[in-house]
Amino acid sequence: MERLNTQVAIIGSGPAGLLLGQLLYKAGIDHIIIEQRCAEYVAARIRAGILEQVSVDLLKKAGVTENLEKYGLTHDGIEILTHQKKYRINLNKLTDGKQVTVYGQTEITKDLMHARQTAKLQSFYDAQNVHIHNFDSNPYVTFEKNGQTYHIDCQFIAGCDGYHGICRASVPQDKIKTFEKVYPFGWLGVLADVPPVADELIYVQSERGFALCSMRSNTRSRYYLQVPITDSVENWSDDAFWQELKNRLDENSRNKLITGISIEKSIAPLRSFITEPMRFGKLFLAGDAAHIVPPTGAKGLNLATADVGFLADALDQYFNQHSSKGINQYSEKCLARVWKAERFSWWMTHLLHRFDNESEFDHRMKQAELSYILESYAGQSSLAENYVGLPFEADKKLEALNV
Ligand code: APR
Ligand code: PHB
Repeated sequence: MERLNTQVAIIGSGPAGLLLGQLLYKAGIDHIIIEQRCAEYVAARIRAGILEQVSVDLLKKAGVTENLEKYGLTHDGIEILTHQKKYRINLNKLTDGKQVTVYGQTEITKDLMHARQTAKLQSFYDAQNVHIHNFDSNPYVTFEKNGQTYHIDCQFIAGCDGYHGICRASVPQDKIKTFEKVYPFGWLGVLADVPPVADELIYVQSERGFALCSMRSNTRSRYYLQVPITDSVENWSDDAFWQELKNRLDENSRNKLITGISIEKSIAPLRSFITEPMRFGKLFLAGDAAHIVPPTGAKGLNLATADVGFLADALDQYFNQHSSKGINQYSEKCLARVWKAERFSWWMTHLLHRFDNESEFDHRMKQAELSYILESYAGQSSLAENYVGLPFEADKKLEALNV
């Protein structure tokens, strides 16, 4: 058995684990990442791609924005298409100058892995039988690799191992509460090397179901269709996908749509999921290990980033300023943000998707709500404020009302 020692053991090398590693490195905190998959698999996973400004700022702090600054696309607005009418949400003007950045999570993962390699930071990929132990007192992690057993003593464990990971599952049932909503549909996603249909994202509400026109660059598009959760990718040829997308678009977009061969096609289920609390003694959960949002508001990666920002600060305070304040507040601070982003993602999902079991009354109510949001300054402002990412500090405009 090989025995190692570190300050923080990070389980999982998705964006949460990798970004945490980079921020700890910048703060001079020793850590090791343990990942069950191989590096090539981790680097190739296709996920979402919209970053809030605070996420970009954190990646900047981690020193990994060279490519993002070169290839990321900043967007000032999004479009919502309903009943053949497009509404532009001017995110920039409605939020006093904020923007979002289109940059694929796959690219962020690669940039973080590259930075990690350059700094020669220690990672174990292909780790088997990963277990965490004693996180109430003297934590340690065990795993196997190439027939060798490893034992890593540490002061803290960061559970960044996603929804199916072992960290959350290792917490005794009576110490944890989870909240969940599973939606009766999924998103069929296609990635294709064709120019996007429009300069900005189009969220489509239609009687045939939801669709989304997104992109990764000016030459690579990402499109999604709402499909029944029982559907399978084999039922969707490229032609069938493009035809159904056209059916859900307005005439102008339909005519502009450039189709091509798909380079990736998959169906993702939609789920809302929250774990409380997010700290158990010396174990912290971060990212998808603690919460899942449906992709409709593009909040998954941004929430993971926010958790990791809080956690890196808390560990910095602990190791470099000898204060436990940050780690004691970690769970509460994260969850305040998590519930609001969960609400927004659930609401966007509810508003824009077709639910087959909806009564006619509920359907008309939803339509009225959408009209209100799109036709009112206050409605659009609320959507925009959530979409670009809620501020971390208290709302000054609201405070001014109460003096
Ligand atoms: N041991 C070690 N690693 C594990 C284990 C385990 N038992 N179980 C899972 N992992 C690894 C997975 O292989 C994966 O690489 O943990 C990593 C978790 O990564 P993600 O699922 O990408 O989760 P996270 O880093 O929190 O990223 C959140 O990804 O899909 C999005 O919506 C999500 O955008 C959000 C972001
Ligand atoms: C994506 O580009 O993959 C994407 C964009 C916006 C979303 C969800 C996914 O709301």
